Amino acid sequence: MAGEMSMIGSVILALLLAGYLGQQYLPPPKPKVIGLDLGTTFCSVGVFQAGTGEIEVIGDDEGRKSIPSVVSFTPTGVLSGHEGQELSDINPQNTIYDAKRFIGKIFDLETLEKESARYPFKVIYNNGSAEFLVSTNSTFTITPEFIGSRLLLKMKKMAEKQLGVPVEKAVISVPAEFDERQRNYTIRAANLAGLDILRVINEPTAAAMAYGLHKAEVFNVLVVDLGVSSVWSHINDLPLAGNNKLGGQDFTQRLLQYTTERVRQQFGVPPTLKADIQILRQAVEAAKLNLTQQPHVHLHVPLHLQTTGINEDLEEKVLFEEELTRELFEKLNEDLFQKILAPIETVLIEGHLEKQEVDEVVLVGGSTRIPRIRQLISQYFGKEPNTSVDPDLAVVTGVAIQAGIMGGSWPLQVSAIEIPNRQLRKTNFG
Ligand SMILES: *[C@@H]1O[C@H](CO)[C@@H](O)[C@H](O)[C@H]1NC(C)=O
Ligand SMILES: *[C@@H]1O[C@H](CO)[C@@H](O)[C@H](O)[C@H]1NC(C)=O
Ligand SMILES: *[C@@H]1O[C@H](CO)[C@@H](O)[C@H](O)[C@H]1NC(C)=O
Ligand SMILES: *[C@@H]1O[C@H](CO)[C@@H](O)[C@H](O)[C@H]1NC(C)=O
Ligand SMILES: *[C@@H]1O[C@H](CO)[C@@H](O)[C@H](O)[C@H]1NC(C)=O
Repeated sequence: MAGEMSMIGSVILALLLAGYLGQQYLPPPKPKVIGLDLGTTFCSVGVFQAGTGEIEVIGDDEGRKSIPSVVSFTPTGVLSGHEGQELSDINPQNTIYDAKRFIGKIFDLETLEKESARYPFKVIYNNGSAEFLVSTNSTFTITPEFIGSRLLLKMKKMAEKQLGVPVEKAVISVPAEFDERQRNYTIRAANLAGLDILRVINEPTAAAMAYGLHKAEVFNVLVVDLGVSSVWSHINDLPLAGNNKLGGQDFTQRLLQYTTERVRQQFGVPPTLKADIQILRQAVEAAKLNLTQQPHVHLHVPLHLQTTGINEDLEEKVLFEEELTRELFEKLNEDLFQKILAPIETVLIEGHLEKQEVDEVVLVGGSTRIPRIRQLISQYFGKEPNTSVDPDLAVVTGVAIQAGIMGGSWPLQVSAIEIPNRQLRKTNFG
């Protein structure tokens, strides 16, 4: 009897031990919630890995950590991200980008007509909302949230492939200045992609989290997202934002104006065909990126200029070549660069903060790589901005941290913040 008991006892002990050992060797739980950054020009998806305690920004099949926010419609299908962008040259009128600028926003007819003129695709007015007119086999309209949903779907699939499990829940970031309607339509885009949004978080808050906002020793974080500056502080409950509506596109536009004028000087006519303008814009965009690393860049752009013959319009093939320097780029944009400091000053005044009280100055978005912008910010604060996080991935990193919190896998002893829709508040989980 006693022997039997002790045998049962040891069986139970063995089972318990097996359970204990099993737990030790069990693979760490897969992330349940993904973090999404649906950007104007690029999108990224990230997760918090409970096993390693690291943030993983998920790459595509070729390891690229962001996908262009571009969706192209063709007679045979809808292509998103890099595949969509590859069609922007041959299918410009059906290749939609910048959809985030239109999502959930109310417009008047006149504004949308002006906007439409800026793009190779047609933006139309539908009862206060913007839609895109697409012509493949048939002609139809597409909403900005549908464009968003295709990008989110692509990222959902990238995450599922990487994690090996279905993904249904996400946290998503939006610009701090998005109103309730814009937030709702962003959520709708995610719902269309089969994703349930557990929380919407402000982009500057996400960026600040990526830089250690949730750490006790960091009190005031100033986030510079080019035109939009925000300060996050342990003392102030509310995020403060100053905005001068500046974006990377504005710098490209200045360079485009300059090169268009150079074409006119060299060949007597400026480029007028939409395809030419598009090709020149792309070349100028690439040159702008190069100039953040190199002092000069050589432009080499084939164009089909329309010159007027005696009886008819002639299309003349020309090769436009031009040397662009960083110095020239800075000169063309200096007045815009100077405007970057204004929202920074505004948030400091509103937050009753001195420059010296800012613990971390962090940069968000690719344009903050422009050397002149970094220089202006360092001069203003008398210290270098913190560049330990890639400015293109700062937002997604923070959203992934928030996704980890929502999924319950963020270590409990770490204090983290709860972010209700529009306002910031600090909550200790520990
Ligand atoms: C569009 O037309 C092409 C060629 O006629 C056809 O192969 C394709 O299936 C059509 N696509 C759709 C969506 O109907
Ligand atoms: C147009 O928009 C208004 C306000 O958003 C809405 O009340 C109305 O139902 C819409 N009309 C149509 C035809 O969709
Ligand atoms: C946003 O969505 C919420 C919840 O569905 C709803 O109560 C609210 O009226 C919506 N607001 C706007 C401006 O669309
Ligand atoms: C920049 O931020 C990282 C991440 O929070 C931190 O570890 C590092 O100390 C900061 N560096 C500087 C120079 O402020
Ligand atoms: C930009 O630089 C890369 C190498 O750094 C080069 O391959 C590329 O052609 C350059 N682009 C332009 C537009 O000059």
